[in-house]
Amino acid sequence: MSTIIERGYGVGDVISLLWFKRSLPRYCTQFIEICVMLCADHGPCVSGAHNSIVTARAGKDLVSSLVSGLLTIGPRFGGAIDDAARYFKDAYDRGLMPYEFVEGMKKKGIRVPGIGHRIKSRDNRDKRVQLLQKYAHAHFPSVKYMEYAVQVETYTLSKANNLVMNVDGAIGSLFLDLLSGSGMFSKQEIDEIIEIGYLNGLFVLARSIGLIGHTFDQKRLKQPLYRHPWEDVLYTK
Ligand code: ACO
Ligand code: LMR
Repeated sequence: MSTIIERGYGVGDVISLLWFKRSLPRYCTQFIEICVMLCADHGPCVSGAHNSIVTARAGKDLVSSLVSGLLTIGPRFGGAIDDAARYFKDAYDRGLMPYEFVEGMKKKGIRVPGIGHRIKSRDNRDKRVQLLQKYAHAHFPSVKYMEYAVQVETYTLSKANNLVMNVDGAIGSLFLDLLSGSGMFSKQEIDEIIEIGYLNGLFVLARSIGLIGHTFDQKRLKQPLYRHPWEDVLYTK
């Protein structure tokens, strides 16, 4: 770490060295840093922040509040990056047309990871996705997986307005482009990274920043025990 500081490297380089075991070119480390910054927070009402806030207001400590929020990260919230990369890579590499891929997933009863959002839609796009795409267009040698994901999104949007590419889908597809286009990883290494599931780590790391902030906010504002309005909890149809 001392050497990293002496050489003027940033947190993207630290992640490259500790996770991917190599120094990556600046455009890659900057992309990693952009992912971390863009995913650091999405307000107090999302699953993770809500859990951290409730836990902090129950009088628990920082670590308990943080992990309570982190534990919501999974296939629906923030933790769809690895699956998005897995499914987009498999579909692209097998030459599936976007509609074949989406309809195939539907037949299997699996939602397309990286597609869909609770509040974002065709007319209210996720700016984070647009910024990531813009960066990659300007700096990546190839964006073939991201372009495939855009074609998937075009098809899913023909079905429903909220089936936009979400930030997990953008990071998942663009990381495939980073891994395959940088020339820094063998095919076997890429398969291993996708198989093990490194990419959700980016969201976990990033969102920890926001969850810690939400925890401090509650403590600083001396917020009392939280109790949810019971009308919001639906037990019967
Ligand atoms: N693929 C295919 N169809 C979908 C998808 C998807 N990804 N998402 C929603 N639909 C369709 C389904 O027909 C669904 O009906 P079903 O419940 O019978 O499957 C219908 O849209 C309505 O879905 P809702 O559950 O009302 O959508 P909601 O707004 O609650 O879900 C969510 C949002 C959880 C993000 C959903 O779109 C999803 O599961 N996406 C895939 C997982 C994912 O990418 N999560 C990361 C989100 S970004 C983030 O958390 C940082
Ligand atoms: C997030 O970054 O937390 C989201 O995209 C999920 C949400 O519900 O807004």
